[in-house]
Amino acid sequence: MKLTRKVTAMALASMMVFSMAACGGSDSAPETTTAAAAETTTAAAAAETTAAATEAAEKDAETTAEAAGGAGGNIGVCIYKFDDAFMTTYRNALQEILEGKGYTVTVMDGKNDQAEQNNQINNFIAQEVDALIINPVMTSAADQIIATVKDAGIPTVLINREPTAEQMSAYDKLVYVGCDARQSGTMQGELILDTPNKGDINGDGKVSYIMIQGDPENVDAQYRTEFSVKALTDAGMEVEELDLQRGDWDRNKGQEIAQNDLAKFGNDIEVIFCNNDDMAIGALQAIQAAGRKVNEDIYLVGVDALDAALNEVVNGNMTGTVLNDANGQAAGAVEAMEALLGGKTYAAGEQSIYVDYVKVTPENAADFQ
Ligand code: BGC
Repeated sequence: MKLTRKVTAMALASMMVFSMAACGGSDSAPETTTAAAAETTTAAAAAETTAAATEAAEKDAETTAEAAGGAGGNIGVCIYKFDDAFMTTYRNALQEILEGKGYTVTVMDGKNDQAEQNNQINNFIAQEVDALIINPVMTSAADQIIATVKDAGIPTVLINREPTAEQMSAYDKLVYVGCDARQSGTMQGELILDTPNKGDINGDGKVSYIMIQGDPENVDAQYRTEFSVKALTDAGMEVEELDLQRGDWDRNKGQEIAQNDLAKFGNDIEVIFCNNDDMAIGALQAIQAAGRKVNEDIYLVGVDALDAALNEVVNGNMTGTVLNDANGQAAGAVEAMEALLGGKTYAAGEQSIYVDYVKVTPENAADFQ
């Protein structure tokens, strides 16, 4: 069962890679170059035995890598901030896939500052990169970012922070790769509905919760907040929101909010919804410090399936989480980028490509570790 799920997730990722590559056109070029280069390098290394020969082979390998990078192109990647747990996993996956395909990659830290990121985008344009992959600092800056890359004619993949379809329709060499955040919110609600008392631990006929929100400017935060609760009410549960506060995706803020609310509302809190795992890990620290026990007298759910959260799900310290598939999204972003490089354009209304979320419980958590 476990193995099947893992295989399914992996198969899904490669299927997506395959299907998106199929839309491409000239997207097989970098792969072919890299494969040929790798073969040549291996053959050369095997044939030579002396130190000098090894050195020469190494030099060859460097040259071939450069050549492959040239053929693959120069890619500029802008991340909203490096100091974000989920985006760290994501950017590492992205870099590995791009470099594995022979691209020359530069990844910039936007430091959560849109002005800084705008400069980085302009620098990449000045350097004439072949394509851009951008995780905007602010979704509200999407119009400006799209106008800038359109002006420069650079194929661009937006990731993680989804603009509206209307904003994206301004530029047909632009696509968004991410997830439909409504799905993750719904899954969080389902995780609560799957508990023996459907979240109503004290049996008073309603589920009393606090909501620790990500950056509310981000559609992921908006939808997760809305759809987690909607799943409960759609299932006929009564709900009571004791508190809703922004934790900006941040572990320390998650801890502070949960600590204050636990002091204020005590045992009235039956569920803590966190828009992401990092805040849930912070909330867990507060829950434990308050002497409460997850799955016995309180429920706790997050999103992302960070390693730390998976461990807590397995240990019974988190009720569940939702896989936000960083590897799948990174693979999807690269495939979409290659399709753009191959000349594909995207029609208005068809510029969002989604990777599925997966519900994570103690039963399947190990599959994602
Ligand atoms: C993730 C968060 C992350 C945010 C950054 C969300 O999709 O769930 O963990 O902080 O993206 O924009």
